[in-house]
Formats: sequence, structure tokens, C-alpha cells
Amino acid sequence: MTDSSPKTIDTLLSEHRTFVPPADFVAQANVSDASVYTTADADYESWWASWAEKLQWDKKWDTVLDWQLPYAKWFVGGKLNASVQCLDRHVDAGNGGRIAFHFEGEPGDCRTLTYADMLAGVCQVANGLKSLGVEKGDRVTLYMPMVPELAMTVLACARIGAIFSVVFAGFSPTSLKDRVQDQAAKLIVCADGAWRGGKVLDLKKVVNEAVADCPSVENVLVWPRGGALKSSAEDLDRDVKWADVVSSQATTCEPESMDAEDPLFILYTSGTTGKPKGILHTTGGYMTGALATSNLVFDLKPETDVYWCTADIGWITGHSYIVFGPMANGVTQVMYEGAPNYPKFDRFWELVAKYKVSVFYTAPTAIRAFMKWGDEHPDQHDLTSLRLLGSVGEPINPEAWVWYLHHIGGGNCPIVDTWWQTETGGIMITPLPGITTTVPGSATTPFPGIEAKLLNEDGSEVIGAGGGYLALTRPWPSMLRGIWGDNERYEETYWSRFPGKYFAGDGAKRDEDGNLWILGRVDDVMNVSGHRLSTMEIESALVAHEAVAEAAVIGIAHELKGQTPVGFVILRNGYEATPELSEELRAFVAKEIGGLARPEKVIFTPELPKTRSGKIMRRLLRDVAEGKAIGDVTTLADPSVLQGLQQEYEAKES
Ligand code: WT7
Repeated sequence: MTDSSPKTIDTLLSEHRTFVPPADFVAQANVSDASVYTTADADYESWWASWAEKLQWDKKWDTVLDWQLPYAKWFVGGKLNASVQCLDRHVDAGNGGRIAFHFEGEPGDCRTLTYADMLAGVCQVANGLKSLGVEKGDRVTLYMPMVPELAMTVLACARIGAIFSVVFAGFSPTSLKDRVQDQAAKLIVCADGAWRGGKVLDLKKVVNEAVADCPSVENVLVWPRGGALKSSAEDLDRDVKWADVVSSQATTCEPESMDAEDPLFILYTSGTTGKPKGILHTTGGYMTGALATSNLVFDLKPETDVYWCTADIGWITGHSYIVFGPMANGVTQVMYEGAPNYPKFDRFWELVAKYKVSVFYTAPTAIRAFMKWGDEHPDQHDLTSLRLLGSVGEPINPEAWVWYLHHIGGGNCPIVDTWWQTETGGIMITPLPGITTTVPGSATTPFPGIEAKLLNEDGSEVIGAGGGYLALTRPWPSMLRGIWGDNERYEETYWSRFPGKYFAGDGAKRDEDGNLWILGRVDDVMNVSGHRLSTMEIESALVAHEAVAEAAVIGIAHELKGQTPVGFVILRNGYEATPELSEELRAFVAKEIGGLARPEKVIFTPELPKTRSGKIMRRLLRDVAEGKAIGDVTTLADPSVLQGLQQEYEAKES
């Protein structure tokens, strides 16, 4: 008997305390035998080498791993090109006619690009880059929306051995400038505009502002979004047009044979200081990790699957699970440019139905937004093509998990909750969909070959059930190789807290069944809509404003975004604490860093809670902001500061 009345979240939670992979999924899964874990554990070097062997090498490696803690070299002596893995390998195998991307622009413009089209396009861009003097080892910064040309430019850089660095096209001129300067980029490739929420964002204007302070940049190569768009930003001397540089280039380009350890890209992420870290990834190991994890975690079937990862290529998720992993597997993908609720709340579900998406990968913050928008939006579309769902970026709350399973997955799609980081390059803790019995909210267990441990404060290991600091205790091929230009910070940030172990910055617990639950960051980093923001970075932005004497920023719990920043500000003499100034400061942060960083609130206060040694106690600010009972205040220099703050906060709330 079927019950047609919609099930409540509570009912769903009680029905899905665990989820066993359905028999029909297991029967077709790329891996369904749990012995994969023991095989990989017994000899992780051979396990990873077996994946590296599936890549096309110009020269095979001599040594799988050279581990001089904390510096790893994988596939030493091997030579290959990353773009060949994603393009030529498939075209040469006779699969050039397979669709690589179903692209859909926000206004509804559609393009279909096969693997052969992508290869030709990548070669044209590569030749264009060469014509601008870009050589192996040069840095190229990309600032583009989600369009096929972004993937092409990434692969074109890889093809000629230029080190690319994608900056998410929502970052401010200052953030873009900082990144371009840090890597001393020779070229910026950008689009003049991007569609988002029915409007065109003027990307070129951002680039113009940034590039004014970037003497290393010789040219700005501009791709016109749709042609009909006119950027309000003027052309500058260094600008060159796509039509002049790329469009008439030859559609073949000999790939550069790269050393396995040659840099592939730099991707910036927030750390605990005001300065973002340029995370460095290299070629052979990164490609091996991307190929293996996307094959096993997303169970990819290149002949039949239509895979859609909704991330932006500006984040690591888009690097590993749009460009390199899925393309190395030769699968067909959907790429969508714009907002999920444009023109209506069902845009994503319309696309899933239109392209018969079978594997779908998104973030908990998006899932919570879908829940809020209403069940009717997915429910009115045929989503039966879906067979596997993924989640990434932050802990997924069990309510969102069961909603995702039921309303998107029709109750029978496995969900893979994948924990990893910009630094890890690929998925580290995750179910394997044909093997793992999942539990809503848990990322379950390490990927084969990965070893994760929970550590106590003193570095001793938590055995069995319990909580601790999450550390990775073996090298893995797609691990970061350093921080661009700052090895000291690399060693200090990741390898000094627990000597000899990679400290991820997250806390986690292990349950009685051995499943891992990620609890969130334990450092001054917050996670806003699945993106990393540093409290220090926002504080630096606030104090850059003339009215601000001192600032403290915390991340507080937020229903949709997971966390959101709140700023506490002490004004300079002569400035008045007005609602207008509070608004101005919020906008100022958004302008300095990017919209993501805009504080939810800015609260003025005459004092901040500090220890006697002057350290701001953010934990107490969090208690105030989340309306919790105030924790231990015995170390405060002046406990009365908190009462004043609480009053300020409550006044602001009402
Ligand atoms: C941080 C890494 C990995 C791509 C997107 C974010 C958090 C990531 C999960 C998950 C709980 C997660 C962690 C991690 N995180 N995935 N499945 N469950 N937390 O990449 O910007 O490098 O951030 O995101 O806190 O440390 P990132």
C-alpha cells in the first residue's frame, strides 16, 4: 500500500536511520566488493599506482613515492600532460563524438560540445596563449563565469604547461589583485560579463580595477559573453580580444610533456591569517587522485551517465569534479552558468529532467535553500534519471540529507557525503555508493588508501568511538605540494600541530559503528555556504575603513548558509554608531573581499571581550551572537564588557 500524503521530515528521519545500497545499484557499481579497502590498505603505493597506470604517460615513473615529510613526490620521473588525459585519450579511442558538455547559459542559450570540440577549442586557446608569449611555468589568472571557455582555458594552460589559477568571479578587485600579485601572473583571461539572477555582472570592470596595480600582467585576454553584452568597463592598453587572439588559431597543439611533479595550478583559499594561501597542486598525483575518486565515488559510466556538479570551477570542487576527474573519465556533463532560482525556483530540476542527469553533486547550503523554496519545485519534474547523489562543502544536516534522498533521489539513490579540502585535491572521506551503508549526516569512512585518525589535544590517538582533531596520516597522490612562495607557512599550518601528520583544521567524531562525523573547523576559519572565509581576513577589511578602530569577527550558525559572519566593531573617535554606518561597513567588506564575506550584522561596541594578555575571546562573542548562555569568563580582563555587548546585541535584534 502506498500513502500519497507527503511525508514529513520527521517521518523520513525515522525511516532512514541508515541507507543500504539498493541491490540494482550494487549490481552495476564500479566497485561493490569491500576487499578494495583491505587491498588498498595493505599497500597504498601499489593501489595508487594501479590508478596512475590508467593514465596515458609519455614516460612511466621510476618511483611511485618519494616521501620526505612533509614533502611528497609521486610518480617520480614520470612524464605526462593533464589535458591529454581529459581530451586526446578519448578522441584517440574513437570517442571524440561523445558529448563533453551540455552547456546552458542563464538566459537559456544552449551549446553542445563534444570531446572533439573541446580538444579543438583547447588547442586554439593554447595556441592563442602561446601567441601572447605565455610559456611553460608562467602563471595565468582566470576570472570567468561558468562557461565552456573557462574549462577550455584551464585545459589550455595545462596543455602548454602554464600554471593556472582560477579566481572565483564573485571576488572583489582587491581579492583578485592580491592573488594576481602573489603569483606574479603574466596574463589574465577574463570574460567581460556573466549572467546571474537575470542581470549581467560586469567582470571586466573588476579586472580593470585589479589590474591597475598588477605590473606583472602583460595582457588581459577578454572573452565576450554572448557577444550581445557590452561591458561598461573601458578597454585598456593591455587588453586583447578573444576574436583576435584565439578564434583563428589552429585546432591542433602539441601537448607539453610535463614532469609528474611540475605544478599544474595554484588555488587560493582562506587560512587563519588575513592573507589567503596559494595552494599548489602538481600534475601526475593530482590527475591520479582525480581519476580514481571520481570513478569510484561517483560510479561514473562514461557511455551512459550524464553527470552534473553544480559547483563553480573557481573552487576546488570544480577543478577536481568538473574539469579533471570527470573529463579524465570521459563522461558527459551538464554545465549551467547562473542562479538556481532563475527564472524560477525549479531551474535545476528542469535541467535534470531535460538532460536526464544521472549523477548529481551539490552542497548542503543549496539543499537547504531547495527545502525552503518548497517541495513542489522538484516534485513537478521527472527526476527518475537520477541514480546517485553527492554532497560537499560542509556537514550535511540529517534533515537535509533525508529531504535530498526523498525529493530529489526518489528514495532510492545512494548519497555520497564527501569530505575533503582545497589542500587534499580530491575526496578523502566518503561512502562508496555500491558498498557503504550510509547514515544521514556522516561522511562515513576514508577512501581506499587514505588513512584518517582522530587525535587528542596531546596528539595521542582516539581509539574507537569518540571525538578529536581530524588528521590524515599517510601521503596521498593529490595532496598539496606546498603554499605558493611560502614553505614555512605550509609546514607550520599543516604539519606542526601534530608533527608528522597532516592536520586538516576540522574536528570530527567517530561513532560506535566506525563512521566519521565532521563537526566543523576548529580554527578561526568559518564555512559560509560551503566556502571558506577567515575571520582575520574580514577583520582586516573592517579595520581598513576609516571609521573603524578595532574589529572582531565570528561565524554564527545560519539556517541556510551553515555559518555567516558577524562583525563587532569599535569606532574611532568622532564617528557615530548609526544603522547607516553599520550598512556601510557591511557593504565595505563585500567590496573589499566579495559578496560572500558580507557580514550578516555589524554591531558597534565600546569594548571587546579580551583576556588579560589582550587576546579577543571570539568564543564569548559567539555565545552572545547565538543567544547562548555565556561560557567561562574567568580569564576575561573585564567581565562587565560582556553585559554591555549582550544589551547592544539584543537591541539590534529587536
Ligand atoms: C572545508 C574545506 C572540498 C570542497 C569544498 C570546500 C568543510 C568540506 C565537507 C563535508 C563536512 C566539509 C571542512 C573542510 N567540508 N566537505 N562533506 N562535511 N565538512 O573546500 O574551501 O577547501 O573547505 O570544508 O571544514 O575543512 P574548502
